Amino acid sequence: SAELIKRLEETIENFPDFPIPGIQFKDISPIFLDPKLYEDVIADLVTFSKGKIDAVCGIESRGYLFGIAIAVALEVPFILIRKKGKLPPPIISEKYDLEYGTAEIETREGQIKKGQRILIHDDLLATGGTTEAAAKLVEKQGAIASQFSFLIGLKGLGGNEKLEKFGAEIYHILEY
Ligand code: PRP
Ligand code: MG
Repeated sequence: SAELIKRLEETIENFPDFPIPGIQFKDISPIFLDPKLYEDVIADLVTFSKGKIDAVCGIESRGYLFGIAIAVALEVPFILIRKKGKLPPPIISEKYDLEYGTAEIETREGQIKKGQRILIHDDLLATGGTTEAAAKLVEKQGAIASQFSFLIGLKGLGGNEKLEKFGAEIYHILEY
């Protein structure tokens, strides 16, 4: 809602050129100082996914901050997508390109079930590289990347375009 967007805009802090020149860093940490705002954010994200998914995948680390609460509210499993080397085997992994070099994300084998409709949640959509890799990781395991949700979508970095091929619903509460 317009009211929630306004409260979030007043709360999220923007830091130009952090952590490197050219990046506009959005600090979401003040949201957690305001439990009522946090509750309203979760309610909004829950409304988007209610009745449409069988499990939530959250992307380490900021994707956990809201992802677990969404899954608990919807009474569906939450699966951790972690950065490389944090989960014991057997694991399923997916590599992706960063601006410089490559990264890799992983899930425990067997936690995502074949045919499940999955919500992939993260705090922020920028280039979409992280989320695209998460969706590939989900589909590799025979599940469906049905929905993507974010607090924030950054315009003009190609994120939405990168996710189009999955044919999933995409939602972000606010856009910059
Ligand atoms: C940030 C953000 C998203 C990702 C978005 O995470 O939380 O996960 O980058 O970027 P992209 O759309 O260009 O892939 P980061 O890797 O900084 O780690 P963190 O969540 O652990 O802070
Ligand atoms: Mg992240």
